[in-house]
Amino acid sequence: MSSMQFSDEFDFENRITDVNEIPSDTAEGDNPLRPQNLDEYIGQEKAKENLRVYIEAAKLRRETLDHVLLYGPPGLGKTTLAGIIANELGVKIRITSGPAIEKPGDLAALLTNLNEGDVLFIDEIHRLSRSVEEVLYPSMEDFAIDIITGKGQMAASYHLPLPRFTLVGATTRAGQLTAPLRDRFGVLLRLELYTPEELAKIVSRSAGILGIEIDWEGAIEIASRSRGTPRIANRMLKRVRDFAQVMSDGVITLETARTALDRLEIDELGLDRNDRRMLEAIIRFYNGGPVGLETLAAAIGEEAVTIEDVYEPYLLQIGFLSRTPRGRCITAEACRHLGYNMPKGTVAGAVTQPNLFGD
Ligand code: ADE
Repeated sequence: MSSMQFSDEFDFENRITDVNEIPSDTAEGDNPLRPQNLDEYIGQEKAKENLRVYIEAAKLRRETLDHVLLYGPPGLGKTTLAGIIANELGVKIRITSGPAIEKPGDLAALLTNLNEGDVLFIDEIHRLSRSVEEVLYPSMEDFAIDIITGKGQMAASYHLPLPRFTLVGATTRAGQLTAPLRDRFGVLLRLELYTPEELAKIVSRSAGILGIEIDWEGAIEIASRSRGTPRIANRMLKRVRDFAQVMSDGVITLETARTALDRLEIDELGLDRNDRRMLEAIIRFYNGGPVGLETLAAAIGEEAVTIEDVYEPYLLQIGFLSRTPRGRCITAEACRHLGYNMPKGTVAGAVTQPNLFGD
């Protein structure tokens, strides 16, 4: 086995293909690329058209919209959609996240500051603590919370009515939501990875907003290397613009997009250097697997959780990795893509279905 060190060559920071939001995504302020209403929002046709009906119906009845749960992989526009829901309803939005609400008192403070009809957006809602969830249930159902003050004989309970509000929860892991919480959402919307055509429309729209000239072939080229994710596509657009300005007349064409993305070492499937090196480590050091997550993490000098949350979802999604009880395995498709023969002894076809939402 080679003792080659991969860790020095890894660039885990500022990955252009990171699905999580990084500071440069919003560098222009309140992200001008975010669509403000349903008509501007491209893709997610099923979720969008259902949402349009629910919003219209709530407005006709002059009621608040039922609580909405948005679920699906990161980077697909859950926060954007929550903002659109508030805009379409003509109400304000308060944005927070599961880990940010530490104590029941934090949630009580948020809820009591809402106005009638407002949207409360809780990102990563699967990460709420049990004690906070206990307060959330009655507030979602009865629009009231019970506050207990004092201890022992001095204990007193107050029933505090709240304004009627719409909770929009977002999660990448719907399977981790407790059943009582899931059951309290009237509207469940699953967001899907975008098609290259949808992403190309998003890239063209973003280019228009940023004053970048791009033709359709250039947009399609960026789109097809963006892992089905608008956040990555918009980030690539900005980097490709740099190359187009320095290397040609600033116009993004198929040619300039290809050259730029090749220079950034992002291949036709959207894999970057780090993806390829991790896959190669499995092939070359572990004979294609299975290799345990911790062992693999140590071999490439990275945290196991980064591999799990940042690298693996897309590689599982496209069937390049499989997760077995004994560890990670490479697949025949991945070997073919990287130009390797399938290592002997690898269980070909051990491709398991990606489980983005279940665990
Ligand atoms: N920018 C990011 N996501 C978008 C979407 N779904 N539609 C339009 N522009 C976007």
